[in-house]
Amino acid sequence: GKKIRVHHLRDMKERGEAWPMLTAYDMYTAALFDEAGIPVLLVGDSAANNVFGYDTSLPVTVDELLPLVRAVTRSVKRALVVADLPFGSYQLSPQQALETAVRFMKEGRAHAVKLEGGRKFAPHVEALTSAGVPVMGHIGFTPQSEHNLGGYRVQGRGEAADALLADALALEEAGAFAVVMEMVPAEAAKRITHELKIPTVGIGAGPDCDAQVLVWQDMAGLRRGKTPRFVKKYADLAGVLAGAATAFAEDVRRGEFPASEHSFHD
Ligand code: KIV
Ligand code: NA
Repeated sequence: GKKIRVHHLRDMKERGEAWPMLTAYDMYTAALFDEAGIPVLLVGDSAANNVFGYDTSLPVTVDELLPLVRAVTRSVKRALVVADLPFGSYQLSPQQALETAVRFMKEGRAHAVKLEGGRKFAPHVEALTSAGVPVMGHIGFTPQSEHNLGGYRVQGRGEAADALLADALALEEAGAFAVVMEMVPAEAAKRITHELKIPTVGIGAGPDCDAQVLVWQDMAGLRRGKTPRFVKKYADLAGVLAGAATAFAEDVRRGEFPASEHSFHD
């Protein structure tokens, strides 16, 4: 099929077709999700938690994320690949945002970038889109601001929905091609989705967003322990992998692997 472009996402919104987005951080997942028809893959700064083993997204760097972005872009035929700008790599100024985005586009071969923040980041978004870089916004609960927001909390409840709408409209006005809404009441997300011409991508934002995104290790059950309310587990990869490793270990210990068919003979 044809490469997904940002205008296809807007066309789907106009046709009322919901679309899925997943994170991807490596070759196999990128190729599998691309072949499964996921139109947009995000190399999230959630790689901090889901690849590098940090406890928050704050420590991950551009130099750590770039090779993951390159691996994903190398491995897809059709999907639009969005590179997440990590904490500290764009907040200083629109110029810093553009310098970082240029690295993700040139070295990572990303097709677009994503950054967190509302109205205050409209100038950053505008600098990028003016330079030809498609930008996905991200509002509501923004994990890079965890300490300022007071932890993992729903954003935009009640009256605060108006401020969230103003943020979303400012991003659209600045040229963003889509906006992620994370941990937002379904009612506010529905209203914002209706008010915007660009697609909204929900994560914990109810069923009325134009698109839905999940972290793939949450979606496929590779992450163990407590997952957020907004996660639906579509597989038990943790169980499958743990079972495979345990079976392999037992075979080796019992001398049952390798068998004759796994060995070379004269
Ligand atoms: O980094 C990430 O995975 C994200 C998505 C959850 C939207 O920003
Ligand atoms: Na992110």
